[in-house]
Amino acid sequence: MTAKKVYKVVVVGMGKRGMHHASAFQKNPRFELAGIVEPEAPRLAKAAAELGISKTAADAGPLCEEVKPDIFCFCTPPSIRLPLIKAGIKSGAQLIAYEKPIALSMNEALEIRAAVQAAGVKTVVSHQHRYGVHYQKVKEIIASGSLGRVHTVYGHSAGWMIHLITHLVDYMGWFNNYAEAQWVMGQAAGRGKLKDNHPSPDYIAGFIQYSNGVRGIVECGAGAPDIPEIDYWWRKNRIGAMGTEGFAEVLTGGGWRAVTRRDGAISGAGCMNYDLEMPPYVQDMATWLDDETKVHPCNGETAHKGMEISMGLVRSVVQRGQVALPLGPGDPEIEALGKILPDQPVLLSSEVNHKEYLG
Ligand SMILES: NC(=O)c1ccc[n+]([C@@H]2O[C@H](COP(=O)([O-])OP(=O)(O)OC[C@H]3O[C@@H](n4cnc5c(N)ncnc54)[C@H](O)[C@@H]3O)[C@@H](O)[C@H]2O)c1
Repeated sequence: MTAKKVYKVVVVGMGKRGMHHASAFQKNPRFELAGIVEPEAPRLAKAAAELGISKTAADAGPLCEEVKPDIFCFCTPPSIRLPLIKAGIKSGAQLIAYEKPIALSMNEALEIRAAVQAAGVKTVVSHQHRYGVHYQKVKEIIASGSLGRVHTVYGHSAGWMIHLITHLVDYMGWFNNYAEAQWVMGQAAGRGKLKDNHPSPDYIAGFIQYSNGVRGIVECGAGAPDIPEIDYWWRKNRIGAMGTEGFAEVLTGGGWRAVTRRDGAISGAGCMNYDLEMPPYVQDMATWLDDETKVHPCNGETAHKGMEISMGLVRSVVQRGQVALPLGPGDPEIEALGKILPDQPVLLSSEVNHKEYLG
């Protein structure tokens, strides 16, 4: 039997997520961590020492020319996307893996999609929570049919939009078998996070019409309901599905639960944990590169559809009314939102959100 190819990886941006990615690639024999890139010298030196890697650079270009990676991975703040997509294409990599959200505007997301499609490069976006056992269990319950006819999928988070909405809509879409979204309608409040490095309204809420008739309901931020069962604020996320025979939902930081006519009330453990989610997430990149038919569950095309829902909701706030999908180019959504959101403090759903949104 011939040995399977070892894929060379360059990781760019050695902050929190870059380190998670680099060490997950390093621990899997299907990958060789061939180089790391980071513009901040002390951070680069620290990452190099921790990973025991000597091939380092402040800029991806020359290092990639030398290394010729199969996978170009970048984990930078959300404002830095298209230039690194272009650098990834130029590197000759077959797959670009990068962090959510895919962009800060629909225009940029469309440019990214056009560029990678033209170059024939695969993309994978880090919506890796789904590998958690509690997420998998909820998907299994929904797929078993024990909820009856699913009519509603939902997701909400205490954290603000640009951090979390694409995670939520990705898992809602998964729970709804990736039915196409046809239109969205949303509303938003609060200017406090517009200048954040994940620029967002303090609260956004909206509805999604899926082509199979299922209703999606999504909320992010200060007004989203609290989940008192979860202590860790960033993990106060709940994603689930309701049907004619029951419901099933996952709590990012607190397991899963379901009530169905067939099985009664059932629940189980599980908590978001990078150490558990990153290994299968990177393994699935090798699996996809080995076999075209084994498309990565976090592929860029699915992420693009989640971006359409997310930015469609913002367009709905700005333009009012329903917004039909798919989205074409338009005014950059977050800037447009900044022009129209009233200067009124957001109203909270719970005191647990006070510190983050009202200081
Ligand atoms: N998937 C998840 O669960 C998850 C969790 C946290 C953060 N994120 C996302 O990951 C991304 C990065 O977040 P983080 O927490 O690792 O941030 P971070 O600030 O810890 O790291 C970002 C790194 O990128 C570097 N950088 C900035 N500009 C660069 C450039 N032009 N070229 C190369 N490197 C550059 C910075 O110096 C920094 O070291 C964000 O988009 C964030 O939303 C995802």
